[in-house]
Formats: sequence, C-alpha cells, structure tokens
Amino acid sequence: MELRDKIRNRQARIGIIGLGYVGLPLAVEFAKAGFAVTGFDVDVAKVSSINKGHSYIGDVPSEDIAAAVRAGKLSATDDMSKLHDMDAIDICVPTPLRKTRDPDLSYVVLAVDAVRARLKPGQLVILESTTYPGTTDEVVQPALEEGGLKAGSDFYLAFSPERVDPGNPTYTTRTIPKVVGGVNEISTELAKELYGSIISTIVPVSSTQVAEMVKLLENTFRAVNIGLVNEIALMSHRMNIDVWEVIEAASTKPFGFMPFYPGPGLGGHCIPVDPLYLSWTARLNGFEARFIELAAQVNGGMPHYVVTRITEALNEQAKSLRGSRVLILGVAYKRDVGDIRESPALEIISLLLGKKAHVAYHDPHVPWFVHNGKRFESLNLDPTTLAEQDCVVIATDHSSLDYKWVTEHAACVVDTRNATRDANGHRHKVTKL
Ligand SMILES: NC(=O)c1ccc[n+]([C@@H]2O[C@H](COP(=O)([O-])OP(=O)(O)OC[C@H]3O[C@@H](n4cnc5c(N)ncnc54)[C@H](O)[C@@H]3O)[C@@H](O)[C@H]2O)c1
Repeated sequence: MELRDKIRNRQARIGIIGLGYVGLPLAVEFAKAGFAVTGFDVDVAKVSSINKGHSYIGDVPSEDIAAAVRAGKLSATDDMSKLHDMDAIDICVPTPLRKTRDPDLSYVVLAVDAVRARLKPGQLVILESTTYPGTTDEVVQPALEEGGLKAGSDFYLAFSPERVDPGNPTYTTRTIPKVVGGVNEISTELAKELYGSIISTIVPVSSTQVAEMVKLLENTFRAVNIGLVNEIALMSHRMNIDVWEVIEAASTKPFGFMPFYPGPGLGGHCIPVDPLYLSWTARLNGFEARFIELAAQVNGGMPHYVVTRITEALNEQAKSLRGSRVLILGVAYKRDVGDIRESPALEIISLLLGKKAHVAYHDPHVPWFVHNGKRFESLNLDPTTLAEQDCVVIATDHSSLDYKWVTEHAACVVDTRNATRDANGHRHKVTKL
C-alpha cells in the first residue's frame, strides 16, 4: 500500500525520535488520531515513564498517555532498530549552541545516523528540530543517501518547524498552523498529508530552506522586539517614566503595534538560541546580522541590570547586597511552566551569590534544581518566609501566586514582570523594572 493511503486509513506507523516538549505532544496527537506511534528516546527514564502511562511534560496529561498506551497506540523504546518498521519518522531532538555560541547539530546527526542505518524505500523522514537554513538539504539528505537510497524518489524528506508554546492553553499542537517544506513536491505533499490528519491548518512552502527560515524569522522577531522593549525599559527608568503604563496605553492602538514586555532576560530552549543559528549561517554567507547581535547584547545584559536594581532597592533601606537575604520568586524561564533551561533567574542567582548575598527561591513548578553544582530547593511561601527576606525578586510571574499578598508581607520587592500592578497600598515597597 502507498504511504498516502496508509496515512489516510491510519495504517501508517509513526516513529517520533526525541520525546521532549516537542516530540511527546506530537506523539500523543498522532496516537489520539488512531495511528500506531512508537516514541524513540535515548533517555530510558522517559521511555519507561511513557510505557507506564506517566507524563513528565506539563501540557500533556498522564491520562492521555495512559489511554494511548492501553489502546496499543503508543509505546516508547530506546531500541533504534525498530525505526525500520516505521512508515513516517519525525525527528524532534535538541538543537542547542556549543560553548562557542555556534550551532550544535550533534543530536540531529546522531538521530539521522540511527535512521540511515534502517532506512527503507517508501519511508517519509521529517526534521522538526529548529535549525539553520540548509540543514535538511546539506546535512540530513546526504547522510540519509549514504546508504544508496535517493531522497524524493526512494524515500521522502521534509522539514517542518515546531511552534508549540509550552504553558499556552489557547494554542495547542492541533490548533497551531504547521509549515511544511519538502526536498521535492511529493515529499511536501506527503508531509502535508501526515500532519493534516492531526492539525487543522497546513502551510506548504516551496523548499526545506524556506521552512527552516520561517521558524528562525518567527523567533528572531520575538528576540529583537523583546530587545527593543528592554531598551525602552532601561531608557524609561532613566527618564522616570513607567514603561508598563506606556506599553499598556500603546497597546490600545488597533493596528501597527504589537505589545512585547520587558523582563529579566531571555530564557528557554528557543528565543535565546535560535536567532544565533541564523546569525551564524548569515556570517558564513558574508552577512552580519546586526539586529540579532544587538538584541542578544541588550537581552543578555538584563540579569545584570536586575541585580543593579536589587542593589539600589537594598541601598534605599541602608543595606548592602553582601549578607542580605534575597528570595527569587519564579525560576522557570516563563510563566506557568517548570522549564529552567537558559532561565535568566539562574544567572541572577549566580550574580547574587557572587556578591555574597544569601539566595533562596520559591517556584510552584520547580520543586528543586541544581545550578553550578549546587542544589536548591523551593522554600514554602508563607508570611514569615516573606517577612524574613531583605528583598523578594519576582523573576517569573506564575499565575498561581498572589502578588498583592506578597507585597503585603515582604519589606522590599523588585518586580521584573509588573506582577504587582494591583498592589496599590504597598507600591512604596516595590521597585519595578
Ligand atoms: N520547547 C519548545 O518550546 C520548542 C518549541 C519549538 C521548537 N523547539 C525545537 O524542537 C527541538 C526539540 O526541543 P525540545 O524542547 O522538545 O527538547 P527536549 O530536550 O525537551 O527533548 C528532546 C528529547 O530528545 C532526546 N534525544 C536526544 N538525542 C537523541 C537521540 N539521538 N535519539 C533519540 N532521542 C534523543 C532527549 O533525551 C530528549 O528527551 C529543538 O530543536 C527545539 O529548538 C522547541
């Protein structure tokens, strides 16, 4: 049977390589749609968790995994030889930066090697990991073709960027339009057919490079606009203007303006990383991506700026940072998630410790973490804990916390997210970014 028919009648067996924030929700959606899905991961703890029906990702309920496993539609394995049995394979492995800030494609290369060793005619391979334009064509395709099969005829190859927004209940895997670009028309068509069975809108583009560039444009747009608004926040402070009030009023313009908000710096696996994939490849092509570098510079300076504002707030109380008790509220990189990758709160903690402050934290989504070899545990948040601090720093504004209550009990608050906007009677205690 042809792959297209197998997809239409849900007979296609789908393999997802990398069961993280991107791969797991995708695997569950395909399983819910009636496909037999096998998840492949090198992390045996994740494999075992899925096979037991337990989720480790906030947006994916354990009940959904357990139901799919019970129905025989979802299983996980670290045995890559089973890739041979798949009709379609989605690669969702990490694409971080090296220490030198260059793209680290090692996870993609390992995953592609695993596929190549079992590639068979008629298979569809799709790369979802965010990467620089040219990766699918110049890295993935030649590696897969080493076994003698030809992309676009013997097997099919496409790139489709993932747009999942962890912690966002409005837009989910199913409702976020998906861009697909294949190495040729039939590859695009098959990728479109596959995703069309679980996603409402598919946006085909003319090539893998365009699809790769789409994702980098989207995330560069975010990074640059956040950089701009962070700079506006720095200058507004200098001019004694409340930047949050400015943004709120500007947002009433019904066209030509889109609000972005200042904060303690960029975090997560995407926004701080992806634009640097683009500037790296631009540089290889003899082009300096100035906006990207400037935004990275402004955003990268924000944790230092927050520490300056903490120092000033303590100074107002005739205290020095050295020896002060500082409580960080929220260490995840953004609201309502438990992900601390690249979180600016970690850099703020390092800077504070470097200045000999006593640092603790509370985060309802992060019970503990290890940073620079030191283990931190989330403190219970009660009036006594708050009152004992010399300064409470709101680094992430999780929606389950009552910030008015925080300002009632804390002596001094540095608010990097405008979370205390309703704390009317206690404004004098609050330093806003
Ligand atoms: N997290 C997001 O919000 C998001 C959004 C859009 C795009 N992306 C992109 O999607 C990709 C994956 O991101 P993520 O957040 O899901 O990462 P993740 O770290 O949560 O998950 C990746 C998984 O891949 C597994 N893995 C690593 N190497 C492997 C290999 N060789 N074989 C099998 N499994 C392997 C890891 O064990 C891990 O479970 C990245 O390119 C990222 O930039 C992420």
